[in-house]
Amino acid sequence: MPYYRTVGEVPPKRHTQFRQPDGSLYAEELMGEEGFSFDSALLYHAHSPTALRSIEAVEAEVQDTSPNHPLRPRHFKTHQLKAGGDVVTARAVLLANEDCTVSYFVGSDSSGLYKNATGDEMVFIEQGTGTLETVFGAIRFEAGDYLIIPASVIHRYEVDPSAEPVRALILETRGHIGPPRRYLSRNGQLLEHAPFCERDFHGPETPLIRDGTNVEVLVKHRGGMTQFVYGNHPFDVIGWDGCLYPHKFSIHDFEPITGRVHQPPPVHQTFEAPGVVVCSFVPRLFDYHPDAIPAPYNHANVDSDEVLFYVEGNFMSRKGAGIEQGSVSLHPAGHTHGPQPGSVEASIGKKGTEELAVMIDTFRPLDMGPGAKDSEDDGYAWTWLEGR
Ligand SMILES: [Fe+2]
Repeated sequence: MPYYRTVGEVPPKRHTQFRQPDGSLYAEELMGEEGFSFDSALLYHAHSPTALRSIEAVEAEVQDTSPNHPLRPRHFKTHQLKAGGDVVTARAVLLANEDCTVSYFVGSDSSGLYKNATGDEMVFIEQGTGTLETVFGAIRFEAGDYLIIPASVIHRYEVDPSAEPVRALILETRGHIGPPRRYLSRNGQLLEHAPFCERDFHGPETPLIRDGTNVEVLVKHRGGMTQFVYGNHPFDVIGWDGCLYPHKFSIHDFEPITGRVHQPPPVHQTFEAPGVVVCSFVPRLFDYHPDAIPAPYNHANVDSDEVLFYVEGNFMSRKGAGIEQGSVSLHPAGHTHGPQPGSVEASIGKKGTEELAVMIDTFRPLDMGPGAKDSEDDGYAWTWLEGR
C-alpha cells in the first residue's frame, strides 16, 4: 500500500529514544517487505514483540486438492457449504495453485489471534459486519469490503453478535497484494485514470492497546501451522507510521470505466499479486455505440484460469446457467467461454447492469479443494449447448 500514514504517537526521528511515561523505552519494530527493499512500517510497542513463552506445532486439517482433470468449466454453489467456525480456521478451500488459495467461509464466530506468514490475504466480505482487530489498530467491515491484510500482521476477527453470519471469499497469496503498477505514478501515487484513489482506502485510525500476558497466536507458515504464546499481548502499539498496514477498500467505491464498445476485463482490475489479478465488476452503464453488443464476446483466455464470484444483481450474460448469488465459476485455460445462448441478442439495447462480482484470474492452473467438491453443480459444463 504505497500511501504513507501515521497513527498514534511516534517519535520525531526514527531509531531514536522514545520513552514511556515510566521512563523505559518503547520497543521499536520495523515490519518490512522484500528484505528492507519494499514497503515498511515502524511500530512502537510497550513490550518486546519478540518475547515468546512457548511454541507448539498445530495439527491442522490438510485440505487436499486435485487437478481439474478432465478439464472442464466448473460451477460451485458456495451457499450450499456448511456454516460454522471462524474466518481463520473454518475456510473451505475451493481452488488453489502454487501462487494462491481461494477459499470460502460462512460462520458467526469471532476468531483468535492469527498471522499468515506465507503471504498477503484478501478477504472479500459478501455478508455480515464486524471488526478486524490488528496490531496496527481496528478496521470495521461490512458487505462489499475488501480487507487487505499484509503477510505476518497479527490480527483477529470480531464478528458483530447480532448481525447475519459472515460470508467471505478469501484469497491467500504467496506474495504481496497491491494496486496494478499501471495505476501508479513513478512515486507510487494513484494516477487519474485509476478507478479509485487514496481516499477510497481506509486503514486503522487509532492504536488498539490491549494488555495481557501469555497470549496465543496461530501462525500459518510454509511448513504448516504453529502456535506461539507471546509473553505480552501483541496489541500494545502506542503508534506507528509507514506505507505497510492492513486496510480496506469497498467494492462500492470502485468507479467503473465504460466505453462505446465492450471494455475488456483489465478496466475492472483492482489488485494484483504474483501470478494473480483481482477485478471488480460493479453496477455500470452499458456500451453506448448505437450498434453495441453489451454482452461479452466469447473468449479464450489462453494464459489464465478465470474465477468469478457472483455477489449480487442479475448476471445477464449467464442467465439460465444456474448462476445465483454466491456462485463461483471456474473457466480454465484451454476452455473458450462466453455468454449464455440467446443472451447476446437479448443484451442489445440494454442500458446498464446492476451486477456485482469479483473476478480472480490466475496464471497457473487451479486445482480443486474440498469446498469445490462439496458445492459443485455437475451440469454446468453443458449450459452453453443450445436447445439442450
Ligand atoms: Fe470470462
